[in-house]
Amino acid sequence: MEGRIVIKSIRSLNSLAKELQRIYLEAYREDYLYAYRDPARVKRYLKWLIKHADGGFFVAFDGKRPVGFIVVQPDCRFQGEQIPEIHELVVDPAYQGRGIGKLLMETALNHLKEKGFTKVALWVGEKNEDARRFYERLGFKVTSRQGAWLRMEKDLYPSSAKISSRVSKTEKASTTSESSISSSGV
Ligand SMILES: CC(C)(COP(=O)(O)OP(=O)(O)OC[C@H]1O[C@@H](n2cnc3c(N)ncnc32)[C@H](O)[C@@H]1OP(=O)(O)O)[C@@H](O)C(=O)NCCC(=O)NCCS
Repeated sequence: MEGRIVIKSIRSLNSLAKELQRIYLEAYREDYLYAYRDPARVKRYLKWLIKHADGGFFVAFDGKRPVGFIVVQPDCRFQGEQIPEIHELVVDPAYQGRGIGKLLMETALNHLKEKGFTKVALWVGEKNEDARRFYERLGFKVTSRQGAWLRMEKDLYPSSAKISSRVSKTEKASTTSESSISSSGV
């Protein structure tokens, strides 16, 4: 790791659009099944993501260089229940395996906890075994399927941590700002 990785919440793509597009295309360069391949389509997808994220678009920076991002949409519904969904998580291949994906995920989950959510979900391609293993390690479990897509969900307050996490959330609520989070531990 070159320097300290800093995670920032973004509300518009502005000058980052090209770099985020590059990261996406490189991260999925071997994915011929589920990812968009056309750069123009990826650009439209990024615009769609920023429009629906409502503060849940987080970018990891190494200095000024963006090296990964995660996007969560809070107002998703599934079977009558509002459950936020992680729509995207990618890390620049040159930076993978250094804890950045996990750090982005922790940031997104903390963001949701501070908004009062107790559960999060995502959809993963059934053949994307690497990503499935990654999510399983982070506590996600397959809960249903739609065609070639598996739905995975995670309880934000697993039973053993339920009471203590809720207490600490209340204690933190008035002091924590989610706009910029940093870690030197990756
Ligand atoms: C999935 C992805 C975001 C992981 O990011 P990363 O920064 O490399 O992951 P991290 O270094 O934070 O790894 C976190 C943990 O997951 C594990 N992990 C990472 N990739 C894994 C894999 N392919 N299989 C199993 N475990 C994996 C790590 O060993 C680590 O475990 P630990 O905490 O016990 O040490 C990244 O590989 C990527 O961008 N992949 C291509 C895009 C993609 O498939 N996104 C998901 C789409 S649904």
